[in-house]
Amino acid sequence: MYSEKVLDHFKNPRNQGVIDNADAVGQEGNPVCGDIMKIYLKIKDDKIDDIKFETLGCAAAISVSSALTEMAKGKTLAEAMAMTKDEVVEYLGGLPAVKVHCSMLGVDALHSAIKSYQENK
Ligand code: FES
Repeated sequence: MYSEKVLDHFKNPRNQGVIDNADAVGQEGNPVCGDIMKIYLKIKDDKIDDIKFETLGCAAAISVSSALTEMAKGKTLAEAMAMTKDEVVEYLGGLPAVKVHCSMLGVDALHSAIKSYQENK
């Protein structure tokens, strides 16, 4: 079963949507289930000033995206790069074992957005 926190983030997702003129965008997909997650970043003074997500996916993927944006906002790029899927799962009070793979999408999309920002700088 899902924790209360997972259900809350699924029913009331934080930071869902698109950032026009984002400084960086990262996208990851899971080839097995077909789910896709996109992360938009606004970066100021090497920190995540704003972050939004679009996710086509399961309940766990949406909860993970929402939690991830809450956790990453205000972090430096180095701190955000050090975030792991386990931290997100812990923040959400756990995920059912069959759903832990869904948490990969979030950190991977975030890291790929940061990498593309650093490469294009
Ligand atoms: Fe695909 Fe959850 S089943 S991300």
